[in-house]
Amino acid sequence: MAHAVVILAAGLGTRMKSKLPKVLHPLLGKPLVGYCIDTAFASGAEKVVVVIGHGAEQVRQTFEGYPNLHFVVQEQQLGTAHALAQAQPVLADHQGPIVVTQGDTPLTRVETLAGLVAAMQAEGAGMALLTMRLDDPTGYGRILRDEQGQILGNVEQKDATPEQQAIREINPGVYCFDSSVWEKLQRVENHNAAGEYYLPDLIRIYREAGQKLASVESKDTGELLGVNSRAQLAEVERVLLQRLRADWMNRGVRMIQPETTYIEPSVELAPDVTLWPGVILRGKTRLGEGVEVGAYAVLTDTVVEAGGKIKSHTVCDEAYVSSGADAGPFARLRPKAYLEEGAHVGNFVELKNARLGKRAKAGHLAYLGDAEVGEESNIGAGVITANYDGQRKHKTTIGKRVFVGSNSVLIAPVALADDSFIAGGSSINQDVPEEALAIARERQRNIEGYMKRKRGEGS
Ligand code: UD1
Ligand code: CA
Repeated sequence: MAHAVVILAAGLGTRMKSKLPKVLHPLLGKPLVGYCIDTAFASGAEKVVVVIGHGAEQVRQTFEGYPNLHFVVQEQQLGTAHALAQAQPVLADHQGPIVVTQGDTPLTRVETLAGLVAAMQAEGAGMALLTMRLDDPTGYGRILRDEQGQILGNVEQKDATPEQQAIREINPGVYCFDSSVWEKLQRVENHNAAGEYYLPDLIRIYREAGQKLASVESKDTGELLGVNSRAQLAEVERVLLQRLRADWMNRGVRMIQPETTYIEPSVELAPDVTLWPGVILRGKTRLGEGVEVGAYAVLTDTVVEAGGKIKSHTVCDEAYVSSGADAGPFARLRPKAYLEEGAHVGNFVELKNARLGKRAKAGHLAYLGDAEVGEESNIGAGVITANYDGQRKHKTTIGKRVFVGSNSVLIAPVALADDSFIAGGSSINQDVPEEALAIARERQRNIEGYMKRKRGEGS
């Protein structure tokens, strides 16, 4: 029978010093508790219940529409056992194992949860417990065992004797219970230093009920890293980035100075991608085989097909770059910028809702907004589409093999037909027919001898 997972996340998170509920703090672009939720489902959970307190409405809204995910509110934080008890109404009919994790430890692995369930079932136990050995166990609950190594219980730091405090085996706060847990939770009391209902008290209660206890030791102490402060959030981010980079390099990605690459878990990379130092890859960015991204480029929700190239310091947002196309250095591709095969965008060129056809070029200092540029057209330096009249946006349509001379303003709506030629410095506000030359500027006048006369050397 499939298991359910309960994530305890009602704690206040005061040390974050933030208006945002702790569990919603972004970790590589994804809310903290989102990691626990995804891990829970990836472990095979059929239902996931998150116990929330502070900022409940905001947390709910963030995950709206997520299937088989439930939220319950713990109005008062009376302890971890009390928190778990809040999930009972949602799981009353659930017969399978119930895994419990903590909402602020995002690095817990899928295999760890699945391993606990398997250990409990294999040993016919009523409960399974994860354990870890730490050089410095300060702050954690300590695991108590008898001479035979049987687990007797857990004692919290606050309640521990000096001898107990010396125990290095700790409780990471990840458990698996059978469905008798609800009835057993009623027997947990709060006679302890914190005056709280302690979840680890269930260890003793299961033992007293004569049920077997399974335990699994995790060697990956990194899994335990919790987020209580901004510094810990940064530390967890560092660990997660390290995992992601190592994983992508294993799959054939080349990273130069990998410790400087920022990459979110939603990003997808193909083999032979090259990332130069300081690259930032966010959201649903996807890079095809052999794509190269230059130093300090920032790509958000951007697709670059095989063999595309993004040069250094380029910023892309919801852009699409086809095979063999390139952008940068110092280019800006804003939402719906689309480069067809072999198109080229050079330095200080900005595109927004603009499509560059095959092998079309905009090499320097241009703005193309709400524009369509046909194949093999050339956009000169300083060309601007005047697409906004202060109220509405208008479209510029440029055909194939059009040459737009430098420093021209294309006042939209306007269309330049195939093979037309715009003289440099033109202000174009009328359509240009096929094969035509358009010049729209003041004619030049040269006044002979002007400088000599000015100096009084005139005849
Ligand atoms: C808990 C364990 C401790 C273990 C440690 C591992 C207890 C009593 N102690 O201690 O043995 O070593 O985790 O990190 O369980 N929460 C609620 N409602 C509450 C209280 C807590 O939802 O009323 C949530 C918190 O948001 C947090 C989790 O439960 O995600 C753990 O609570 P916390 O107060 O951090 O427990 P610890 O003192 O760390
Ligand atoms: Ca904690």
